[in-house]
Amino acid sequence: VPLPEGWQVTPNFIGEETVDIRIYNDLNDMFLAAQEDGVSLWVASGYRSVEDQERILNREIENHMRDDGMTQEEARDYSLRTINPPGHSEHHTGFVVDLNDVSDNFEETEAYQWLSQHAAEYGFVQRYRSDKVAFTGIDNESWHYRYVGKEHAQQMEQLDMCLEEYVSYLNGQ
Ligand code: DAL
Ligand code: ZN
Repeated sequence: VPLPEGWQVTPNFIGEETVDIRIYNDLNDMFLAAQEDGVSLWVASGYRSVEDQERILNREIENHMRDDGMTQEEARDYSLRTINPPGHSEHHTGFVVDLNDVSDNFEETEAYQWLSQHAAEYGFVQRYRSDKVAFTGIDNESWHYRYVGKEHAQQMEQLDMCLEEYVSYLNGQ
């Protein structure tokens, strides 16, 4: 999905990354609550410009061509399973954070367990889940959280819906 035209981000630093000011307080509250439970959370990747995304995608394509002997087309198709095209990443919104360890190992951590139990209380949902690939088109990402607000996050959790399902559910009401 392309970023809506005229979308404005007001980047605000949290650690070394930035997020939009509209999610800053809830994100910060979530980090503090986690810390009280002995869990440390940090933003590995927050707001990204279209140019940032272009660099990330191109680097991934080059890596697959060099290390896995893929053609450019194969490497591009493969990379697009985990990286959205420039202009289409949720990271452009400033409403998304990759937390801690951007790898499949994150799912095995205490931090991930904590987020599974508490992220929705602060308005965040795990955006790409293994059981929702058919709807999202993106492989499982245990580290990528999307801010949707507390009310929607809790409702999505109750309904066990990803954002695509939830939006069509709301439109059908
Ligand atoms: N890694 C997610 C899908 C993105 O690039 O937006
Ligand atoms: Zn991400």
